[in-house]
Amino acid sequence: MPALFPPWTNVVARASLIAAVVLVVGVPAALMAWVRAPNATRRYEPVAQPIAFDHRVHVVGEHIDCRYCHFSVERSSTAGIPPTSTCVPCHSQTLLGSSTFAPVRRSMEANTPLQWKRVTSLPGFVYFNHAIHVNKGVGCESCHGRVDQMATVYQAAPLTMGWCLSCHRYPAAFVRPRAEVTAMGYAPRQPQRVIGARLVREYHVRRLTNCTTCHR
Ligand code: HEC
Ligand code: HEC
Ligand code: HEC
Ligand code: HEC
Ligand code: HEC
Repeated sequence: MPALFPPWTNVVARASLIAAVVLVVGVPAALMAWVRAPNATRRYEPVAQPIAFDHRVHVVGEHIDCRYCHFSVERSSTAGIPPTSTCVPCHSQTLLGSSTFAPVRRSMEANTPLQWKRVTSLPGFVYFNHAIHVNKGVGCESCHGRVDQMATVYQAAPLTMGWCLSCHRYPAAFVRPRAEVTAMGYAPRQPQRVIGARLVREYHVRRLTNCTTCHR
């Protein structure tokens, strides 16, 4: 009588085991990598706005501090987007009359806000607060990148949980003096190791890694 399982079935058995492992581990891993990839998170993708507002002109050219426009960043969970009336005083009548400013004029006349498109956003189940970060010496740049060099703002950081935690586990590597939170291209005057350790003590910076910090 021939063997119930001839030798070649060993090969088939091993091959199907490997295939099963690849399927069970590989497919979820590939999907997880894919949802975090820049094209899926829309990282680096410039977001077209109703009016071509250029941070380079306003931040570098005119030296306007971030807080002039993002007025609530130090005391509220949200940074705030300036109301249309903020845009008017600085621009000459001729410029305001130009076609570029048509959305601004419409917004003023109809008394409705400009429909700026959101660039940075977290899922609804994540709690975030600007004020605590800014007051504990985390610079805008650490999360939003070099906004002063962006013609059109794009999402600079991955905004994944792993990214948030990489700083929450070791904030000393990132904190800067409060006076420098809106500075772009900040370079510490002493090694970050020294400054970070000092500021963490001075500002009582905690390592917040409990799930309930961000999921409440
Ligand atoms: C003169 C006003 C003004 C100043 C100054 C300014 N911004 Fe803005 N900012 C805006 C407006 C208007 C928008 C919305 C349109 C856009 O996204 O470009 C915006 C959008 C943003 C966004 C994207 C918001 C989102 O939807 O995620 C970030 C991030 C940002 N600003 C950071 C900064 C930082 C950092 C500074 C300082 C270095 C700064 N801004 C200075 C007016 C300003
Ligand atoms: C503190 C003053 C100030 C504020 C506030 C301000 N701007 Fe400006 N903006 C300027 C200056 C100065 C320039 C460059 C010189 C110029 O063209 O008038 C400029 C240039 C511009 C330009 C380029 C114009 C061109 O030549 O194509 C646009 C568009 C613009 N601003 C939109 C806005 C919008 C929208 C807001 C409100 C969110 C705003 N600005 C707020 C001062 C300001
Ligand atoms: C620790 C990271 C971090 C820092 C520091 C930070 N931001 Fe944000 N910012 C975010 C995240 C995350 C969002 C999206 C929030 C959401 O979806 O709830 C955001 C959203 C914004 C928005 C969109 C409107 C809003 O309030 O949601 C603006 C404008 C903005 N930030 C400006 C700033 C400025 C200006 C600074 C510095 C003074 C700053 N941010 C510092 C992470 C940060
Ligand atoms: C570059 C550093 C850095 C990054 C990136 C960062 N954080 Fe923080 N976060 C801090 C520091 C520092 C504190 C203040 C710790 C303390 O209270 O002593 C903080 C505090 C918080 C708090 C506490 C707020 C409160 O009211 O108790 C929340 C919530 C939070 N972060 C959420 C987030 C989320 C969500 C992300 C990612 C989208 C993020 N953080 C990214 C540094 C960071
Ligand atoms: C510093 C803030 C922060 C802390 C602390 C934190 N998370 Fe998250 N979490 C996030 C952010 C931001 C997201 C959304 C982005 C993402 O999915 O990576 C998220 C997403 C998730 C998701 C959705 C699945 C996923 O990966 O997309 C789960 C589940 C989760 N967190 C569980 C936890 C648990 C359990 C803990 C405690 C061990 C925890 N988180 C601590 C910020 C945080």
